[in-house]
Amino acid sequence: MLKRIAIMTSGGDCPGMNAAIRSAVRVALHEGMEVWGIYNGYAGMTNDEMEQLTSRSVGDIIQRGGTVLGTARCEEFKTPEGRQKALDNLRRHGIEGVIVIGGDGSLSGAKLLADMGMAVVGLPGTIDNDIWGTDYTIGFDTAVNTVLDAINKLRDTASAHRRVILLEVMGRNSGWIALASGLAGGAEHILIPEMKIDLDDICQQLIQSRDSGKKYSIIVVAEGAGSAAAIGEKIAKETGAETRVSVLGHIQRGGSPSAFDRILASMLAERAVLALSQGLSNIMFGYKTGLIVNVDLGDAISYKKGIDPTMFRLATLLS
Ligand code: ADP
Ligand code: F6P
Repeated sequence: MLKRIAIMTSGGDCPGMNAAIRSAVRVALHEGMEVWGIYNGYAGMTNDEMEQLTSRSVGDIIQRGGTVLGTARCEEFKTPEGRQKALDNLRRHGIEGVIVIGGDGSLSGAKLLADMGMAVVGLPGTIDNDIWGTDYTIGFDTAVNTVLDAINKLRDTASAHRRVILLEVMGRNSGWIALASGLAGGAEHILIPEMKIDLDDICQQLIQSRDSGKKYSIIVVAEGAGSAAAIGEKIAKETGAETRVSVLGHIQRGGSPSAFDRILASMLAERAVLALSQGLSNIMFGYKTGLIVNVDLGDAISYKKGIDPTMFRLATLLS
């Protein structure tokens, strides 16, 4: 059994990372392993920013968004020399296994580290929900609920002024946040990078619905689908509607994690620790159809997780 493992958070932070850290530390201690925290992602791994964690050091964090270990983007780790430096640091401290929580970039780094001989288990942590092998990533549920709250508020003012309001949400390469929040919030249109966008058709639909008595419309735009400001301008020009644009930005990355994200993070982290204790490596834990599953880390980073087309079709039908 491994004696000393480490945990780190990397890439874009997400609500639930702290719940995962807390769970990993306490499960590992229960299993008789020592746990170290690596600060600031791969930057901390390469620059030797790590220390031992205790049960107390992860107290009072389950309810907090962000990550107490900090996160970063680190170019040096993308080089073989940088990764060797990181591995040397881990070995010098006697660390035999690492849990990496992050998005596809972080998990790509984790795979390379595993290939160098370090035992590594990845956990999908990103609000974008764009990791293959899991139905939900840690942080997605909280982010969707934050967006939903914004949609509800925008409805009030859109209705009062009879406006078309566009809400730009995160998702550089993925429309999951826009799709889930748009369906839950009853958006009239959802613009995502995975689906062809016909702006002329959307304008026609907006005109028709206005003519049939609809007072206002909400359009959710994933940032990867284009700039909501530019789309809003075009809609105003083509339809004569008064448009307003709201860009939610990093508000949707923060906040206290939902119950779902806390439970998901806690359960995935437990499995990651147990896997390391059993000598497993090069895997990621995810959540599929109600079960915690492990997938090959290489598969998780190579396959692309698409959006759910049935969800998109339903959102369109209901709008
Ligand atoms: P996310 O994990 O949220 O997708 P990034 O794509 O920014 O975020 O990746 C986070 C960090 O992971 C990067 O700054 C880098 O240190 C590391 N990383 C990303 N891609 C690779 C790669 N191909 N090889 C090695 N390290 C990588
Ligand atoms: O966490 C993923 C993500 O939220 C993307 O949707 C977004 O484009 C990106 O992070 C922005 O991150 P940052 O501002 O940290 O570069």
